[in-house]
Amino acid sequence: MVNVNRTPIIGGNWKMHHTRALARELLSSLRAALEEFNQIDVVICPPAPWLGDAIDTLESSSILVGVQNVHSASEGAFTGEQSAAMLVGSVDYVIVGHSERRLMFGETDRQVNEKLRSVIDAGLEPILAIGESQDERESGETENVLRRQLFTGFDSIKMLPTGMVIAYEPVWAIGTGMSASPEMVQMAAVTVRNLVAERFDEITANSIRIQYGGSVNSTNASEFAEQPDIDGALVGGASLNADDFSAICEIFAHGR
Ligand code: PGA
Repeated sequence: MVNVNRTPIIGGNWKMHHTRALARELLSSLRAALEEFNQIDVVICPPAPWLGDAIDTLESSSILVGVQNVHSASEGAFTGEQSAAMLVGSVDYVIVGHSERRLMFGETDRQVNEKLRSVIDAGLEPILAIGESQDERESGETENVLRRQLFTGFDSIKMLPTGMVIAYEPVWAIGTGMSASPEMVQMAAVTVRNLVAERFDEITANSIRIQYGGSVNSTNASEFAEQPDIDGALVGGASLNADDFSAICEIFAHGR
């Protein structure tokens, strides 16, 4: 495919970690390390209770704030939920379809599609997470799984936001310390781009930013940053440490 300039993007997915005190300490350290870090996009997705702290601490820095999940409706009697519409003006990014949501909370491709639409409609930036399980990879189903997740995920969507983020996260690599090989991720990223070209067009496929997620750390990040179709990382465990996370950001800023 034609080569285009895509701004790398690193996401820090804190999942359900950290006390408020630790969260504030981490936010301050991240601000100190990455305050004027403009070479790439950096987005921190803290647990919802620390969202206010993240917004306050990172205000007017170059670090963006995101959330880990939303409900697909704009409002309603949905105890415990938050809508994309409510987050407008407070956050920039929303992770949609993380495998932990799919596997532990039974989120279907259809629900992921509804959430993705609500995020795009609200004008926020989605990070659509997709990826195959170990069994699916071993039985040669990876491409079919990615096709199903993307095509159902994109149902009724006419256009993707320019530079939209898709996080390719093979389930078996998440939180296991067993990252996928850079070559394997590069191949999957090309598959994702081809599927986006098939569903939309080549320009869209070239503009989307594909993150790799799954046990990324400051030691292995450079191998992924070197791959031409990997435009960043969605980082779980290593995003809880300011030094590690900042090092990953630096590597992707200088990786190409
Ligand atoms: P991990 O998580 O870096 O801890 O493997 C990645 C993710 O879940 O996005």
